[in-house]
Amino acid sequence: MGIRTIRKEKDPCLYKQCREVTRFDGRLSRLIDDMFDTMYEADGVGLAAPQVGILRRVVVIDVGDAEGNPAPVEMVNPHILESSGLQGGFEGCLSFPGQSGYVERPNYVKVEAYDRHGDMYEYEGEGLFARAVFHECDHLDGKVYLPLVKEPPEGYTEEEA
Ligand code: NI
Repeated sequence: MGIRTIRKEKDPCLYKQCREVTRFDGRLSRLIDDMFDTMYEADGVGLAAPQVGILRRVVVIDVGDAEGNPAPVEMVNPHILESSGLQGGFEGCLSFPGQSGYVERPNYVKVEAYDRHGDMYEYEGEGLFARAVFHECDHLDGKVYLPLVKEPPEGYTEEEA
């Protein structure tokens, strides 16, 4: 287990452009393992490397599968290929604990990314998976979700941290 400190609020690491990973080595592998440990321990569904102070393009996501089982996905140098549709919902971030806000995101995403070994994979998904991909990829460009928060539509009731 390697729990890393999650950078919070005004930490400069959260507002910087991250660089591509060029070495698929043991150090990257340890970073990804630690990111999963840190995310699960904090009860999150996604974490980006800058949130643990590493300015590299690495994210981990686990929104679970349809049966509620773990479905860990690691993405190194992710690149969004397609997006479509629109979803609105409450979103939070491990770097801003105790807060959430209504954010609109595309409902569908297709993304390609390397794994820790340098093998390229393609992923597609809707709903929460798509939301997590956009949220985490934004982190790699130094963007947090707060400026995207807007008023939920009249009568919107779903609450989700
Ligand atoms: Ni976040």
